[in-house]
Amino acid sequence: MKVLGINAIYHDPAAALVVDGRVVAAAEEERFSRRKHGKRPLPWSAWELPELSAAWCLAEAGIRPEELDAVAYSFDPALMVTPEETGLFDDGDVMRKRYAQMAPDFLAHALPGLDPAKVHFVKHHVAHAASAGKAAPQRDNAVLVLDGRGEAHSHLAGRYVDGQLEVLAGQALPHSLGLMYEELTDHLGFLRSSDEFKVMAMASYGKPRFLGELSELVRATGDGGFVTERIDFSEFAPRLGKDEPWTEDHADLAASVQTRLEEVLVDLARWVHEQTGEKTLTMAGGTALNCVANTRILAESPFEHVWVQPAAGDAGTALGSALHVAHELGDRTDPMPGAALGRGWTDDEIERWLQTAAIDYERPDDVAETVAEVLADNGIVAWFQGRSEYGPRALGHRSLLAHPGFEANLERMNDVKGREQFRPVAPMVLLERAPELFSRGPIPSPYMLFVHDVAEEWRDRIPTVTHVDGTARIQTIDAGTEPLVHRMISAFERRTGLPVVVNTSLNTAGRPMVDDPRDALECFGSAPVDLLAIGPFVVRRPRPTPRPTPRPTPRS
Ligand SMILES: [Fe+2]
Repeated sequence: MKVLGINAIYHDPAAALVVDGRVVAAAEEERFSRRKHGKRPLPWSAWELPELSAAWCLAEAGIRPEELDAVAYSFDPALMVTPEETGLFDDGDVMRKRYAQMAPDFLAHALPGLDPAKVHFVKHHVAHAASAGKAAPQRDNAVLVLDGRGEAHSHLAGRYVDGQLEVLAGQALPHSLGLMYEELTDHLGFLRSSDEFKVMAMASYGKPRFLGELSELVRATGDGGFVTERIDFSEFAPRLGKDEPWTEDHADLAASVQTRLEEVLVDLARWVHEQTGEKTLTMAGGTALNCVANTRILAESPFEHVWVQPAAGDAGTALGSALHVAHELGDRTDPMPGAALGRGWTDDEIERWLQTAAIDYERPDDVAETVAEVLADNGIVAWFQGRSEYGPRALGHRSLLAHPGFEANLERMNDVKGREQFRPVAPMVLLERAPELFSRGPIPSPYMLFVHDVAEEWRDRIPTVTHVDGTARIQTIDAGTEPLVHRMISAFERRTGLPVVVNTSLNTAGRPMVDDPRDALECFGSAPVDLLAIGPFVVRRPRPTPRPTPRPTPRS
């Protein structure tokens, strides 16, 4: 069966293609349209489809729209209730419902040849659930969907047995942990349903001194669900406008909400474990991108393994809905093979881009060695290799790399990216060396979805990536699955004694991650980056960028 998955209703529009049970392509629309998050999550944008990513998925597999067996749309308008019944009183839902009902016709227009009768509506949280429970390597698992909202719910608890979902609980709106966190994001002057990770970063600067009050307002109910009462955040800290400086009160509020979120999530995880007895918990939904909470769930729930969908936000529902419908049509679906499911280019194609740009480039014997040399000299490297990542994290395919041994490199990287200075940057570490440097979170940790404690003796050796609270959000690099990245970090370790490099996404402020070679050249051309490593080629900045001194002393 050939099933195209579509996410369009709220934000992060995306498309994914599953053929005979195998995930062959998945990509977010923003990487094609170059508009961050694809669109704003407003009712009147609900009709906008991931047209470019959908067309690419089909082209990648050589499939015409009329050859599709089904299109899975990750929202079911028939399950919506009225704005009054949700308790959210969001009149925009009337428009969302109408646009969702019309999606089959919109899709047939966007993909000429598609029969609109082949469009299946999939419940939003079933799509999220499948993106976790059917994409994880462990076929039988418990599943938690932790979201802002779907048609009428904000959460799902269930289990997958032999690929079949059994739903055990679902929390009805207006109660929503995701919407609570979004409200706080907005209160702190950040962009709602986009900047939640900034709140998580701010929380590490505060103390949870409002936890007592919040424990009354936000609590698990013992039946798999929870309550989120309306919170007036201004009782704790005044509302902030965009770019307004935050105070200790704001950090303490962020810490309090973060801590309470973690506690409730641990309760929900314990409940679903009691019901299922499974060893593995899988998770999706925007709240499952909260890597601090994920580590706590792993540490404090009885689950042996926690697997989180790397595209845990709504983009991942494109993949989940496609897997769900493929299963319904009789296919046995495979786990996802990794997050590198987007566009990739041959060496010849990349070289043609470089020739078109008429810039000097080299083809070194081993790009990994050349990159390691520049990094060891404290240069910044734009790293463009293989297929692009599905989900919000750069995982060694579209990355900006730097030396982790300089404290000043944090400010430098945040400046290059135009980010707030309180935000951490993350390390990539050789998998086999990771247990020596990092603890508490799981190892391997290939998708940067957990936080780890940095070992005391390593904190001053890798200060760029050691957050203020002594943690780091690591990505482990397995030589088997990421041989080139592994070789590059190994070459860096030979020069510096550090089996770690700084890894942040290859983009600048307000822009989506780089996806194609032209994006890479534009980013390199406009940002203070010393080297672009694109496929087997490198492009050098004629003059070195300003860099902090002194250099650290390598230890063996
Ligand atoms: Fe969602």
